[in-house]
Amino acid sequence: MRVGVVGVGVMGSNHARVFAGISGAELVGVADPDRKQAEFVARTLSCTAVADVDALLGLGVDCITIAAPTHLHRDIALACIGRGVHVMVEKPIASSVEEGREIINAARRAGVTLMVGHVERFNPAVEAIKDAIRNEDILSIAITRVGPFPPRMSNVGVVIDLAVHDIDLIRWFTDSDIVEVQPQLSSAVAEREDIALLQFRTASGVLAHINTNWLTPFKARNVTVATRGKYVMGDLLTRQVTECFGFQPDGSYSMRHLSVGHAEPLRSELLAFMRAIRTGSPPAVTGEEGVASLEIAIRCLDGRPAIIATQRQAPRVVAG
Ligand SMILES: NC(=O)c1ccc[n+]([C@@H]2O[C@H](COP(=O)([O-])OP(=O)(O)OC[C@H]3O[C@@H](n4cnc5c(N)ncnc54)[C@H](O)[C@@H]3O)[C@@H](O)[C@H]2O)c1
Repeated sequence: MRVGVVGVGVMGSNHARVFAGISGAELVGVADPDRKQAEFVARTLSCTAVADVDALLGLGVDCITIAAPTHLHRDIALACIGRGVHVMVEKPIASSVEEGREIINAARRAGVTLMVGHVERFNPAVEAIKDAIRNEDILSIAITRVGPFPPRMSNVGVVIDLAVHDIDLIRWFTDSDIVEVQPQLSSAVAEREDIALLQFRTASGVLAHINTNWLTPFKARNVTVATRGKYVMGDLLTRQVTECFGFQPDGSYSMRHLSVGHAEPLRSELLAFMRAIRTGSPPAVTGEEGVASLEIAIRCLDGRPAIIATQRQAPRVVAG
């Protein structure tokens, strides 16, 4: 399969690296208007550097990853789909729900595979949690995704940049839509929200909570899931997953570490994309799922200026 990558910054250069190591994939070229960056990646991975998506399509590719800035996803995706090329688009699928739907409709009409890069689903720790809660009566989910400010700020805040990963996980773990949203947002340093505490209820009645910010000096990504019969805790960075089970009337219970794989999530994601193209089956993360998660993230931002403007009605530093 002849593959290309559009946008080879932080994320796209990883897509290119991983594609270059997959047997059955031939990395034909990378496109980026930043010539130095495109040439560096192309030289390292022995492929061709071009300036834009049209030149990349001109090299003859079967599928493309789009890892350019999010506001460009729609136009680049439509250009690829218009040439019958299968598309993996990085998360979030687009800047707006409408643009996301345009991509979905175009892909459907053209009969090409469209997958969205919610790579966390392929984290082996996340897969172990998903397995542990299969057939369980899920009650609540809490996810923490915090860290320092990214080195290069894009024009989105923590909700679109980070929480969208966890919105997707909540929908996937519960296999249910989010029907209620209660967001609390604050911008302590950045212009956009840099702290968000988000609460949700799914159609299936699960309560979920996301704690995310860019104000923590170290990265942390933790998931806990309470079910009627189990309490599952996962660290997505160390990939340690533990479950408590066998609750007894005297308060005792059993605990065990679950076995977690070692696969690189991005490699598993790209293999799943290639498999969907080959078999014609629905991809692991569909365009519709990408739009559904984006829609919830955008709902969390509705009324954002009012929420942020009214946040300081009393001193925050407690004296004495
Ligand atoms: N799945 C994840 O965990 C994850 C992580 C980071 C970023 N992302 C997503 O990946 C995308 C890129 O983010 P990033 O952090 O790699 O950004 P980045 O700024 O590091 O890279 C973007 C690259 O796109 C290039 N570019 C700009 N205009 C272009 C155009 N018209 N055609 C082709 N390339 C163009 C830029 O020169 C830059 O090299 C975003 O949509 C982001 O949300 C996903």
